[in-house]
Amino acid sequence: MKMHRAEEIWLIFGVAIIVLSMAVTGYQAFAHGMAPPSGMETIDPQKVDETAPFDNPGVFEVGENEYEVVMTLQAFSFTPNEIEIPVGSEVHFTMTSKDVVHGFQVPGTNINAMVTPGHVQRISQTFDEPGEYLVICNEYCGAGHQVMATTITVK
Ligand code: CUA
Repeated sequence: MKMHRAEEIWLIFGVAIIVLSMAVTGYQAFAHGMAPPSGMETIDPQKVDETAPFDNPGVFEVGENEYEVVMTLQAFSFTPNEIEIPVGSEVHFTMTSKDVVHGFQVPGTNINAMVTPGHVQRISQTFDEPGEYLVICNEYCGAGHQVMATTITVK
């Protein structure tokens, strides 16, 4: 087979890039023990109401300007529904789903998480700007998906 010189160079370049990416990813995975950040904490989705901390959902002060929101998601609502936190607070959301896959997105922030039954999802955010933050479910979860929303009040 007769190959053009430029074709050969590009072929070698392409293969080298693939090998290099695999080496870097492999090094990160095995030498540094890197793995996807979530999905490791599991819970029996049938027993969410009896399993701590989800047996008592709510907003809890855990430190100075630091709050934990323990939340369950179910078709088609968020519990707790009313969240109010002081401006400047760091908020740790601990969430799980009681039925199907839901989403937890707060437009205008970096919060965008998938909440799956059987898993505990954690995400933290500092709210520096006062206001009403809309929370929406962005995973199609059934006939009432479009009404699944709540707000976080920061003041
Ligand atoms: Cu919950 Cu869509």
